[in-house]
Amino acid sequence: MVAGFTPFLLPGMLMCGLLLHTVSRHGASVKKPSEKPNFIIILADDIGWGDLDANQPEEKANNTPHLNLMAEQGLRLTDFHSPASTCSPSRAAILTGRYGLRNGVTRNFAVSSVAGLPLSEVTLPRLLQEAGYYTAMIGKWHLGHNGPYGPTNRGFDYYLGVPYSNDMGCTDIPGYNLPQCPPCDSSSGHQVIRLERSVHGGCYSKVGLPLVENSSIVEQPLDLRTLTEHYKSAATRIIHNARERGQPYLLYIALAHMHVPLAPPLPPDASATTRRPGDAKVYAASLREMDGLVGAVKSASDATDKDNTLIWFTGDNGPWDKKCQYAGSAGPFVGKWQTSRGGGSAKQTTWEGGHRVPTVAYWPGRIPANTTNSALLSGMDIFPTLLSLAEVTPPLDRRYDGVDATNIFLHGEQTGHEFLFHPNSGAAGNFGDLQTVRTETHKAFYITGAAEACGGATGRQQLHEPPLIFDLERDEAEETPLGAETPEYRAIAERVARGREKLLWDIATDTSVSAADYGTDASAAPCCDPTQAVCRCHTLG
Ligand SMILES: *[C@@H]1O[C@H](CO)[C@@H](O)[C@H](O)[C@H]1NC(C)=O
Ligand SMILES: *[C@@H]1O[C@H](CO)[C@@H](O)[C@H](O)[C@H]1NC(C)=O
Repeated sequence: MVAGFTPFLLPGMLMCGLLLHTVSRHGASVKKPSEKPNFIIILADDIGWGDLDANQPEEKANNTPHLNLMAEQGLRLTDFHSPASTCSPSRAAILTGRYGLRNGVTRNFAVSSVAGLPLSEVTLPRLLQEAGYYTAMIGKWHLGHNGPYGPTNRGFDYYLGVPYSNDMGCTDIPGYNLPQCPPCDSSSGHQVIRLERSVHGGCYSKVGLPLVENSSIVEQPLDLRTLTEHYKSAATRIIHNARERGQPYLLYIALAHMHVPLAPPLPPDASATTRRPGDAKVYAASLREMDGLVGAVKSASDATDKDNTLIWFTGDNGPWDKKCQYAGSAGPFVGKWQTSRGGGSAKQTTWEGGHRVPTVAYWPGRIPANTTNSALLSGMDIFPTLLSLAEVTPPLDRRYDGVDATNIFLHGEQTGHEFLFHPNSGAAGNFGDLQTVRTETHKAFYITGAAEACGGATGRQQLHEPPLIFDLERDEAEETPLGAETPEYRAIAERVARGREKLLWDIATDTSVSAADYGTDASAAPCCDPTQAVCRCHTLG
């Protein structure tokens, strides 16, 4: 464990329930299970709030039957937010319970990143591992894969997955929206590993997509069509083995779904000549494939230790607009103020579509069935909630930003974050800046910005001082800001300014703030054999 920081804690700070982790916010004692519970966290990639059928029953889509059932047997959280609007920062905040301005991760790592989540950060799996849990991860890590930064060195006993996004490399049989690896091998024998998109000796020189087990590459380039089966069988095996040993476990499944490239099974009506489904059906087919994987994990858990396992499904950020028909649906959260000025309003933005994610919590006998809760919550809350349920105290040498959602889950309490900040994760710089503040139903923008929309339009970044304020209760599409002269505006503006100043001061005086190294070097890329084109593990026969 990292030591050496001076404990510097202030009463009533932003860690909320964390320090009082066995006591509810209202002082009532939380009843604990006699045995340590198991935790399964399923994090979908680039999923939209509207992709969960249960969030929009009026659409009558039938793409997520297993998740709908899980919601009917559990709790659907309707105002739950990813901690950031892009991959690495969101995952770092989930695993540390801290904003990117504290944990150091404010933008994405690359294939050739030499580092990752700063080693000074303490992770959720590490704390549970130290408390006797078996900790396993399947899927997309994206917090640095090189040496000490890989998942098995950050608290996981076992890892199987693609260590970053599944579009950060090529495959031989690409899914939708991914370049194909060249069929040639490198007969010239010299290093072909080059990270820019250039052609080398007739070969596309991008690094092949690796599948990693623990810290070894087991397949490169990975066959995307087999990934779902790999993940499903690993998850099932992990659940069964942990129960056979009688050891509580954390299983963190960071799905490749719904990030491009999509590689769904072929539907019966796929065109006979191309053997590819019609474009419009690809996303829905992938969604059903993902839902099936979630269903298989739930079945394995239900068959082993049903009453003692919390399954928490959520997303890492909203849909990737610019991928058009391969992007998900943000539902009603369409960010009209922005889209009417050009540009996308989902992933990489702090409009609702960027971070409001479909979320379901399931724990038979503990979480009341068929309930919804609109408490303001975040992926950062996974850290304090799981530690609280496992009765583990996190290190007191640092400050945290998550709230303990135990009483929201088990007792229907309604109070989440007083203030929730959405960091800038866009392409326009100022990474990590807390540009948007949510309090109750209001949301204040100090900076607005857009991502690339389908078709290529990009909006410009704009500063707002005083901030733009929307009331999401009346205006979930974020279309018309409150008039700056209204008493409502003045009250909210004052409140968010106070909340923001308090947080910025708290971070400025936090001695446990980490900084990430975003340096790159070609030798850091996962590579089976640098003498083979795209680093493939075997010469093509
Ligand atoms: C992965 O690591 C775990 C823990 O060290 C070990 O038990 C397991 O055998 C390893 N698996 C592989 C395939 O190397
Ligand atoms: C769940 O709640 C909905 C809405 O209140 C209701 O229509 C449905 O029948 C309930 N399902 C079950 C299994 O109780």
